Amino acid sequence: MKFFADTADTAEIRDLAEAGLLDGVTTNPSLIMKSGCDFIEVTKEICGLTSGPVSAEVVSLDHAGMMREAEKLRKIADNVCIKVPLTIDGLKTCRALTSDGTMVNVTLCFSANQALLAAKAGATFVSPFVGRHDDNGFDGMELIRDIRLIYDNYAFATEILVASVRHTIHVLEAAKIGADVMTAPPAVIKALVKHVLTDKGIEGFMADWAKTGQSL
Ligand code: E4P
Repeated sequence: MKFFADTADTAEIRDLAEAGLLDGVTTNPSLIMKSGCDFIEVTKEICGLTSGPVSAEVVSLDHAGMMREAEKLRKIADNVCIKVPLTIDGLKTCRALTSDGTMVNVTLCFSANQALLAAKAGATFVSPFVGRHDDNGFDGMELIRDIRLIYDNYAFATEILVASVRHTIHVLEAAKIGADVMTAPPAVIKALVKHVLTDKGIEGFMADWAKTGQSL
């Protein structure tokens, strides 16, 4: 499973890249707002920190506006992936851009039928939001299972990018289902390393090493 960092924080992105835990990045208008950075500038910087796809989201709601913005965004770097909402205009934009060889991430997916439409429009990635799905009384992982089944039934090439990941169990469940990618805040990715027995083991080894009186 590929790991994307769901952030526009370049220090966090650099840190994950150095640890070999970064296959790409996703941003959205809320994450750009949180970063306090200029959208174009920070996207350019992020594209230099990874060779993987960097999702940059359009903010127009109509097809012509989305195409105009996508034109600006895809000039930033070869690894920019245009993010469009799961609407008819978004799907039109998806079809036009992918036909032209540009990567597209169709975002804000909350049903398996919507994911089916994204695949038919030729999306590179579809982003089902598991956390927001759970928050509203639905089962986010059931959605991922359904999309996996449908995509496998028809051998769609669109990759399932599990988004709105809130904790490590989301990552585990998504990996068990066979999602292609997950995007999570850096804190969630780093939390995957934690285990009480690892900490306890290090503590024990360090205590015994000190007793040897040796240095390395
Ligand atoms: C990713 O592409 C989404 O923008 C993101 O995962 C949304 O996460 P949130 O529901 O925690 O805002």
